[in-house]
Amino acid sequence: MSRLIVTIDGPVGSGKSTVARRVAELLGYAYLDSGAMYRAVAWKALRENTPFDCEEKLAALAGATRIDLVSTDGSYRVLVDGTDVTQQIRTAAVAQAASKVAVVAGVRTVLVSEQRRAAERGGVVMEGRDIGTVVFPDAGLKIFLDAAVEVRAERRRLEYAQKGERLEFSEVLEEVRQRDRRDRERAVSPLVRARDAVLVDNTAMGAEETARLIVLLAREREAAKAEAQQV
Ligand code: C5P
Repeated sequence: MSRLIVTIDGPVGSGKSTVARRVAELLGYAYLDSGAMYRAVAWKALRENTPFDCEEKLAALAGATRIDLVSTDGSYRVLVDGTDVTQQIRTAAVAQAASKVAVVAGVRTVLVSEQRRAAERGGVVMEGRDIGTVVFPDAGLKIFLDAAVEVRAERRRLEYAQKGERLEFSEVLEEVRQRDRRDRERAVSPLVRARDAVLVDNTAMGAEETARLIVLLAREREAAKAEAQQV
């Protein structure tokens, strides 16, 4: 079977992480969370008090940071310069900071080249905002995952609550709207649906159902690719 690069892009709370992870598991592919890389840079910038309005310093920081995404026994760890920051990068503060470092072209250049390197041999499900448009414009299957903003905010609120961070729905809705705006309106690699991406709106669908739909599409594309390689 021909192994693909599957890209899953979409706004915050669209279910990308849960769905992408499950799709990778069902296909026997590697899973790569590009958002975790932006969060990792943001976490380090916050720690080192790097000014968020200094693009040069942020780009230099990204270049000097080692980010490892380690997948073992179904758990997924994020290491920054060898330190495990898996939990620390999931706070609301780091999420906001990540969408600020993500507007910096120099930061994106560093992270995009690492993302390309990680998927060199295919058999990868990568999630993010610009994976199907910028990182892998020729990916074998591109998905744009979306859902109503209120549903996305509620999913996010529940995630925070599970981690002990209790936020009002209205507060999370505002955070989601702000990040949507920043991601969609930025000059470099804005969040847009690639023309050849399949739009999957999961407002009324669970993660498992969404993942299985994507797996069906991936299997079809794998078969078509294998057939084309034989001709
Ligand atoms: O997906 P996640 O919420 O973890 O991403 C954190 C932030 O990183 C996003 O709000 C977005 O600004 C940025 N990001 C990006 N490009 C990607 C992945 C994430 O700009 N490919």
